[in-house]
Amino acid sequence: MSTKVINIQDKQAQDELQSYKEYTLNAEQYYLIDQAFLIPNNKIPFRVFSLHGQMLKLLLDGDDNNPAVIDKTTADDKSDFLIKSSDIPLYQDYLAMLTQTDNAFNGDKSKSAVIVKEQSKMVMKDLFANPVSRQTVETVRDTAGHIIKCIFEEPEVIHDLLTLKKHDFYAYMHSVNVAVLTIGLGRILGLSEQTIEHHGIGALLHDIGKTTIPVEILNKQGKLSSSEFNIYKTHVAQGVKIMKEVGGLSDESMLIVLQHHEKLTGKGYPLGISDKEMKTAGRIAAIADCYEYLTTPRPNKYGLKPYEALKTIAAEKNDYDRTLLAAFVKMLGKMDAAS
Ligand SMILES: [Fe+2]
Repeated sequence: MSTKVINIQDKQAQDELQSYKEYTLNAEQYYLIDQAFLIPNNKIPFRVFSLHGQMLKLLLDGDDNNPAVIDKTTADDKSDFLIKSSDIPLYQDYLAMLTQTDNAFNGDKSKSAVIVKEQSKMVMKDLFANPVSRQTVETVRDTAGHIIKCIFEEPEVIHDLLTLKKHDFYAYMHSVNVAVLTIGLGRILGLSEQTIEHHGIGALLHDIGKTTIPVEILNKQGKLSSSEFNIYKTHVAQGVKIMKEVGGLSDESMLIVLQHHEKLTGKGYPLGISDKEMKTAGRIAAIADCYEYLTTPRPNKYGLKPYEALKTIAAEKNDYDRTLLAAFVKMLGKMDAAS
């Protein structure tokens, strides 16, 4: 699928675009957290900010000596919430505390799912920031396992596992979303749990080659030039190279890294393989990757609504496996019904 750029004309949209730019510049300093964990009366030993346009507002001013108490107004606020990246370890401790607290969520499975998502995102953030090792592959295997457990216990939590926030468009977040969609599709297709695990691991690592692409290209506002797009496309071959050097990845997982941008019509990349050469793993990943790309807002485009994204993909149905696409639509339909 070609990159879709929406023309932005109105003032409000221009302001939003500006805030994306500002946010991208500061992105390394801040980390977006999920509001679900701002539970009233809980104490947190770190600061929480809310994002309003380009402005960050300090909402909770906690530290080790004086933890902040979460109030109801903050918990009900509909903003995007950020913490300093340097406070991520404290946030991880806070999440771990919540998972150990009996009835922290009154048996609400969706909140437990959001914890899995938050922990998965942090694993992936580390993974994209540091060289990949065999240990990384094991950590990714554990992460895939947690997502699988969540979805098999309560399939409708897929919705809670997906992040579609406008200020959270990083490669690590995309990878968690693609893994959730890939695992969910594998489940509805009745694939074996082992195959689903291999697919989940591959999906979490499918864009690892983006670590070799210049950030100017990854974060560019607007459409890539053809030479930039050629560089962007090398992330697939780079990902395969990285994972071959590291080792420890199954053939099924590697297929997801290699084939997630291929199309049945042969118009994909990097190899432009045809129908027969595209394996189930690649076909699943291609649908999940495209859907996630279309629905997530990024600096140069709005995120489409689920039905709009599905319509866009269906319009190019020869590029995608029709049977898998039908199962994917069914899965999302169930998700919508549950939400
Ligand atoms: Fe990719």
